[in-house]
Amino acid sequence: MACFALQLGCQRGPSGQPPLPAGVTASAVSHPHTGTAPNEAEPLALIPAARCGECHGQLENEWRKSAHAQAESSPSYQRMRALARTGSKSAAKAEECDACHAPLRRFAPTDRVNDEGVSCDGCHTLSNVASGGGQGLLFRPDDNVRFGPLCDAQAHYFHRMGCAPWFRESQFCAACHDAPRHLPAVAGPPTSLFPEYSEWRDEYSAQGSQDCQACHMPATRREVAVGSAERADVREHTFRLPERLLGRALSGQAEVTARGGALHVVVTLSNGGAGHAVPTGLPERRLQIGVELVDAAGHVSVQKEHSRGRVLVDESGAEAPFFAAVRVAHDSRIHPGKTETDVFDLPFGSGSRLSIFVRRRPIALGIWQKLGGAPPSDEPMLHGELALPAGWLSNSVPSKAPAEPIRVRLGP
Ligand code: HEC
Ligand code: HEC
Ligand code: HEC
Ligand code: HEC
Ligand code: HEC
Repeated sequence: MACFALQLGCQRGPSGQPPLPAGVTASAVSHPHTGTAPNEAEPLALIPAARCGECHGQLENEWRKSAHAQAESSPSYQRMRALARTGSKSAAKAEECDACHAPLRRFAPTDRVNDEGVSCDGCHTLSNVASGGGQGLLFRPDDNVRFGPLCDAQAHYFHRMGCAPWFRESQFCAACHDAPRHLPAVAGPPTSLFPEYSEWRDEYSAQGSQDCQACHMPATRREVAVGSAERADVREHTFRLPERLLGRALSGQAEVTARGGALHVVVTLSNGGAGHAVPTGLPERRLQIGVELVDAAGHVSVQKEHSRGRVLVDESGAEAPFFAAVRVAHDSRIHPGKTETDVFDLPFGSGSRLSIFVRRRPIALGIWQKLGGAPPSDEPMLHGELALPAGWLSNSVPSKAPAEPIRVRLGP
């Protein structure tokens, strides 16, 4: 059989079992206590998040807002998985996506709880994450232990506690947020499809000291379970970008001059707020940087927009989704600690106000066309406005263009 399209190392499971993601060894998916492979054992009855929420209600509410709770049901994912499975000669099998999107399905293939995606037990039955690449997952869902960062919590009737300090480390997230793959057309080290962890390790951790959790799971003082004593650093489980992170990743400004019959705009952006490149994650994510001229009636008369991201292509050089790609054609993302500029020239005369925007695009339009339906909308990151000086509003080149550019600060 050909290697799986995602080629997460192309390991084969024990005979009769589906191929495993790299780093997941046969013993890792065997039930550690019985030593039997999952398909020989009784399927497990998975525990829905609502059950955990009987005691951890606040955490459950937060998790329901998270992308993790939509990892299986999100329309983008459903459509892309359907394309991956029917698409090309490299058609993926369902379980190849499940490894991270519905990680417990291999223990309970028909259980409806899998629709909850990366649910509580999708993380808290992880007894270890293999080191060295970080993508190995060692689940113990058949056991009554819930692993977590607390080492002084007392066992009770519903579950025992598994003291696992590494839940506070980036290595934990690497279980799924790291997927090195050898793209056929590229010699040398594998390209990471989900590169958050490798970028954090190789590019960010030399300059910054924060783990993923510090930015993505901020701490507040509260009780962990109903009736327990408050603890100082209980972690928020929403993992939401729009409310707290999208406006913090980048900082920047625009410099505007009148030059050669046009408005000349130089947008400079620095990544000082993310522990990885912006954008990161799914290769189809894009950073949209643009300028528009708005007239007195509020209509946009001219708009120009640049896209930054990783463009993956197939053998013919056409933009392709990650599972059908053979190489990275270019990577114009803003890496941690780095500054990039985008230059725009706009014709004069069509507007009185200049608006500058930076947005997150969930999926590149070229890829979305293959998925069908209306694409998800862009999400605002930074924004700036400039009312053009009166002398610039005529249809012609300003006679006395200011020597110094006008600076516009960009903010959330
Ligand atoms: C068991 C696999 C798994 C683990 C472990 C995991 N994630 Fe995720 N994560 C996912 C999947 C799958 C998605 C995509 C969900 C979707 O379909 O949008 C995701 C999405 C995200 C997002 C995107 C949020 C958004 O609003 O778009 C962030 C941020 C994130 N994870 C952070 C983390 C951090 C930080 C950790 C470690 C504390 C972590 N994840 C651990 C699988 C995992
Ligand atoms: C994407 C993985 C992930 C998912 C899904 C997840 N958790 Fe967590 N959880 C973590 C991590 C990581 C920590 C520890 C963070 C730290 O301390 O740095 C944690 C901490 C906890 C703790 C210990 C108290 C605290 O906040 O430190 C409890 C209890 C907990 N989670 C319960 C839940 C429940 C209940 C759900 C489902 C409603 C859930 N978790 C879903 C990753 C996850
Ligand atoms: C009957 C109540 C109850 C239910 C139901 C419950 N828990 Fe807990 N859980 C607790 C209590 C109590 C603590 C300890 C709180 C403390 O010490 O502050 C705890 C602690 C935890 C911890 C921290 C463990 C550690 O060592 O860091 C995790 C993780 C956790 N629970 C996950 C879950 C998950 C996942 C579910 C659902 C499968 C669940 N819990 C269901 C009461 C419950
Ligand atoms: C210094 C703070 C910081 C650290 C450390 C950090 N992140 Fe982020 N992360 C951000 C910010 C800010 C964003 C929003 C900008 C963006 O989407 O690119 C983000 C976005 C993301 C996204 C969403 C990408 C997208 O556009 O869908 C994922 C997934 C993610 N981070 C995972 C991780 C993981 C995994 C780690 C650890 C290996 C980590 N982050 C470390 C700040 C951080
Ligand atoms: C190694 C783990 C892993 C595997 C295997 C995996 N994914 Fe993901 N996937 C992730 C993570 C982590 C994210 C979140 C990254 C981000 O937010 O940009 C994600 C996000 C996505 C998203 C964005 C979801 C949204 O709502 O915006 C899509 C679509 C997606 N994956 C499709 C797939 C398909 C299709 C497959 C199988 C061919 C697959 N993934 C296999 C880890 C994985």
